[in-house]
This record gives sequence, C-alpha cells and structure tokens, in this order.
Amino acid sequence: MRWLGTSFKMTKTRAEAAAYAARLREAVGDGLEGVCPFVIPSATAIATVTDALGGRDSPVLVGAQNTHWADEGAWTGEISVPQAADAGARIIEIGHSERRAHFGESDATVRLKTRAVLRHGLAPLVCVGESEETRAAGGGTDAVLAQAAAALDGLQNPTDVLIAYEPVWAIGEHGRAPRPEEIAPVLAELSDLPVKGVLYGGSVSEGNAAELLRLPGVDGLFVGRAAWDAEAYVRLLATVARHARAVA
Ligand code: 13P
Repeated sequence: MRWLGTSFKMTKTRAEAAAYAARLREAVGDGLEGVCPFVIPSATAIATVTDALGGRDSPVLVGAQNTHWADEGAWTGEISVPQAADAGARIIEIGHSERRAHFGESDATVRLKTRAVLRHGLAPLVCVGESEETRAAGGGTDAVLAQAAAALDGLQNPTDVLIAYEPVWAIGEHGRAPRPEEIAPVLAELSDLPVKGVLYGGSVSEGNAAELLRLPGVDGLFVGRAAWDAEAYVRLLATVARHARAVA
C-alpha cells in the first residue's frame, strides 16, 4: 500500500475544508488501486470533512492532528480518541515536531497516545525527525530511531502503526527540501521496523514527490503546504497512483 496524506495544520474554515474534501471525493471515486489517501483537518472540521467525503466508509481516511491518551475527563482543551473517532477520524497524528517543540509533546506522551489510539482500533501516525543541530552533530539517525522505539515500546501490534519521518529542518516555510542521500540512510533504518508503513514528510512538492517515492523504505508521503490546494493534492495523488502501479 502507498500512502498520500496531508495535514491542514491550523488552516481552513469548515467551508474551505468541505470544498476541498468534495473535490477529493470526486477525484478518488471508489478508490485507487494500491493507494490510501488521507486528510487531517483541524479538529473543528473533522466531522465536516467526513461528511463531505460521503461518510466513514470513504476511501479517503480522515484524521485528527492530536489526541489525549485518556478516554474522557478533566483535560481542558483536549480531545480524546473516542471523540475524534465519533467525528469520523480513523487515523490520528501523534508527535509532530511542531507539537514536540511548542506544546511539550515528549516520547512519553507519544507512547501513551500511540497506545490509546491502538486501543480504540484507529491508526496512529507517529511523527519522528531529527533537528538540524542533532544531524550536524552526527546523531540524526540515532535520534529518529530512539523516537520510533519510544513510540513502539512494548506494543503488541506495532504492525498497525504508521511512521512519518519528518526531519525538523525540512518542515515548513523555513525548511529545505532534502537531498535523497541525506534521508536515505534514516529511511533504510526505519524500514526495518515491524510497522505498517513509513511515510516521508517535509517540503514535499509536486517537483520532488516522484523522486522521494522511489527512495527505498518510503511507503508514502505526508505533505503540508504543497497539498493545501485540492487540485495540487489531486495531482500529487496521480503521482502516487502512478508509482503504486509501477511497483505493483
Ligand atoms: P510541509 O510539507 O509544509 O513542509 O510540512 C510537512 C509537515 O509537517 C506535514 O506534517
């Protein structure tokens, strides 16, 4: 299976998210052989996007950008896995570097959240990635493997977990697209993990998507800015579908 996902991060109103999802529904139809598309809107739009895709059985998975590990309780501002699932989420992003940097996400909370998501039968998408400084000091691969190991530690079913390798230095408007040889060694190590798949994210674009998909160990792409326009997502999807056919 090849994956193409986008997180809207903190963008889009419900109306904008619904229009985007409607376009995707039209483009994906009954599904694309060997490709699993997913969209992760802000929490406010999870239910809206689910509806606009035609419901929970859509071939496009809807996700949440974060979750709490408890099922319910006095955790002001948080959303639980059952709540996200109730809104239509089937995949939950955990440990994005923006959350690690700004909201205190740690390997310990990533582990708790990963377990919570699996407990409820949803798919955890665990984000891992090294900083520029760590890479420069020669510890990039070890740091990424340590983050992944922390998330998977003690799990009965690591094969239900998706990993997104997102080097911090490659993400967002201040990031730079990686050269293949910079990320290939990390991807090779991650591909040895007993997980459902490894996605690459960070400055993915229509220009580099095909090349990134061809890297050994890459099962898909997790895209921010370059997929926030629905037509751009549809074009990326065509690239992923072509790649899926070529490797079938
Ligand atoms: P960009 O594609 O905008 O660099 O963001 C990647 C990302 O963080 C996806 O979660």
